[in-house]
Amino acid sequence: MSAPNSSFDPKQVAPLGEEQVFAMRDEALAAIAAATDLEALKQVRTEHAGDRSPLGLANREIGALPPQAKKDAGMRVGQARGAVNQALAARQAVLEVEAEERMLVTETVDVTLPWDRTPRGARHPITMLSERIADVFVAMGWEVAEGPLVEAEWLNFDALNLGADHPARTMQDTFWTEPAENHVVLRTHTSPVQARTMLTRKPPIYVVCPGRVFRTDEYDATHSPMFHQVEGLVVDEGITMAHLKGSLDHMLQALFGEGVVTRFRPSYFPFTEPSAEMDLVCFVCRGTGLNDDPDAEVPTCRTCRGEGWIELGGCGVVNPRVLTACGVDPERYTGFAFGFGIDRTLMFRHGVEDLRSVFEGDIRFSRAFGTEI
Ligand code: DAH
Repeated sequence: MSAPNSSFDPKQVAPLGEEQVFAMRDEALAAIAAATDLEALKQVRTEHAGDRSPLGLANREIGALPPQAKKDAGMRVGQARGAVNQALAARQAVLEVEAEERMLVTETVDVTLPWDRTPRGARHPITMLSERIADVFVAMGWEVAEGPLVEAEWLNFDALNLGADHPARTMQDTFWTEPAENHVVLRTHTSPVQARTMLTRKPPIYVVCPGRVFRTDEYDATHSPMFHQVEGLVVDEGITMAHLKGSLDHMLQALFGEGVVTRFRPSYFPFTEPSAEMDLVCFVCRGTGLNDDPDAEVPTCRTCRGEGWIELGGCGVVNPRVLTACGVDPERYTGFAFGFGIDRTLMFRHGVEDLRSVFEGDIRFSRAFGTEI
């Protein structure tokens, strides 16, 4: 047995020798100098200054050395690590400044750039007119009602007293969905909303319903297979034709200005009795039917085509059979209803000559009406 060799204190322990430690340091310094951005420097820091880096591992081994070697190696490794950390800090400072400068360049906002390059949209004039009409009634305390575009045949026709053999029901006039035995149509008017409203709420009822309707019409300057109507329905005690006239006159004054002249023309609709067609004195020729420009090619007024009157739509006192079909007691309640074309109203109110321009989606058409939000 020999005593421990305490006099053996080698200065150079393999991984902690001068050469190796300098090599680790120089490698670290080279990597630091080569890091071109903060992200890369972060990586270098882990690889060359972290606990598991060569210098980090060397540092851990120092403790196991005998005293003199420990001192020497400690100094060497300590100095190398110090140099690496200093280099890291210096590079970090340089890269931070660089990053900030880069950011100032790449994130510059040029406040002189034009801001209006994205063209502003415009609400569709049909939407604006529908809302304006509804607003007139809402201001009188009415509510806006809605119904589906794809409607039950019964609500579109039967409930409204349109008989099974009514011509409007045929394939020539109505879009039917398949299979036919489901009895579902694209609504041909907004009137089914009347039935829906009476079936779901009790009188007093005061509703207005603007919406889209469909018929198998040609697509030309005055027809379209899809167009818009506004329906009105009032059911209350003591309602008469006079209330109808007063409400419609009020609406037309709101739309066309004070002093508008209207008239009722006798008509027929299965869901109203009596029924009428409402006309408005042409607001261009004031009823004369004449073009006020004596040199004009066409001597007649272009808005009313010489008629002197503009046809607005149908209306009347709700037929008691409709009230009964929809669960309203006709002994106690009476009502009035109307249904007007919105597209037509837009056309003559704004001198639009071709209905197709209303539906073609050209933004220039909408923009001419101004943008209302
Ligand atoms: N639904 C009718 C149509 O599309 C218009 C109409 C007429 C609606 C008279 C009504 C009314 O509410 O009372 O031709």
